[in-house]
Amino acid sequence: MTVEMPFNRILRGECVETMKTLPDGSVDCVFADPPYNLQLRGELRRPDETIVDGVDDAWDKFADYKTYDDFTRNWLSEARRVLHKDGTIWVIGSYHNIFRLGAILQDLGYWILNDIIWRKSNPMPNFRGRRFTNAHETLIWAARSPQSKYRFNYQVMKALNDDLQMRSDWFLPLCTGHERLRNEHGLKLHPTQKPESLLHRVLLASTTVDDLVLDPFCGTGTTPAVAKRLGRRYLAIERHPDYVKAAEKRLDGVLRLPDDQLEVTPAKREMPRIPFGSFVESGTLPAGCVVYDRQRRLKATVAPDGTLVSGKHRGSIHKLGALLTNAASCNGWTFWHFEREGEWLPLDVLRQESHRLRQTA
Ligand SMILES: C[S@@+](CC[C@H](N)C(=O)[O-])C[C@H]1O[C@@H](n2cnc3c(N)ncnc32)[C@H](O)[C@@H]1O
Repeated sequence: MTVEMPFNRILRGECVETMKTLPDGSVDCVFADPPYNLQLRGELRRPDETIVDGVDDAWDKFADYKTYDDFTRNWLSEARRVLHKDGTIWVIGSYHNIFRLGAILQDLGYWILNDIIWRKSNPMPNFRGRRFTNAHETLIWAARSPQSKYRFNYQVMKALNDDLQMRSDWFLPLCTGHERLRNEHGLKLHPTQKPESLLHRVLLASTTVDDLVLDPFCGTGTTPAVAKRLGRRYLAIERHPDYVKAAEKRLDGVLRLPDDQLEVTPAKREMPRIPFGSFVESGTLPAGCVVYDRQRRLKATVAPDGTLVSGKHRGSIHKLGALLTNAASCNGWTFWHFEREGEWLPLDVLRQESHRLRQTA
């Protein structure tokens, strides 16, 4: 039965049963950190191959691969049903389960977009010295189907990476320090709490403000915490009551960033097409101003019609940039710079500011 859509809540329960209560296509993005398939060969092993004594994390115990695969198929099917047709899913795992997850994702009709290697800057050593240090986890990012017009905030990722295309290998530390939730004895509250930095990147890459993010394996609430801070709506499912309580307490301490601080670099297609001339007309960069290339070797003067003049050459910001550098083409918005309060800024800043103004108007 479908009930009214809840959001900004942590639902206590089994994820497949709980997802069944959600409407089709109601979620923009799923982030899932499912239980590992650790109890094979009669031993309970950590990802680093040390045997764990006295662990009672019942969620980690699957008798065999078939049981694990059946469970995986069930929750991935429900996740796909509740996902919007253009939505995406992130699934994180280690060598224990990621290949099984990947195959089942493809079998169910998801369309894999990337596998991301989360390289840990501070991994656990391999205590027995019988294998390589297991220093990464893998995230699979997939669209609901090959036809999905999914969201990828390319410019935002590029800005986050000092203006270089974001790559598929992410170097981030494990969750430690003040971020790590601890119980009253000072022990880790949860064995696999993920770092907020990882979720920050995931959510910034694939969602926008007010999108609904679903985490079917909430644990300590890392996904809802980052979603709340970044102004996304969230819904998380967790079956262990202690983790639900811990996650709710954590969320109480998280503040949503104010609207004006949630803005990020707009995608090129979201930028209005503003002719350079309009900045000349409005007096933002009036005729007679001088603009330079980044190294300040080339110079041009702004003409009243929005063209640039350099010596005997005249042309649009793009044409003149190309002409003076003997290039086939040139992006005049990033090539030419103007001075403001002692700082040299690319013309593109004018477009970005104008875009921001339109958004807040
Ligand atoms: C790998 S942990 C997720 C950790 C989380 N990403 C974090 O940062 O804290 C998986 C969580 O899923 C929960 N879980 C396992 N099976 C579940 C199920 N069938 N339904 C709901 N929750 C489940 C476990 O209790 C555990 O907290």
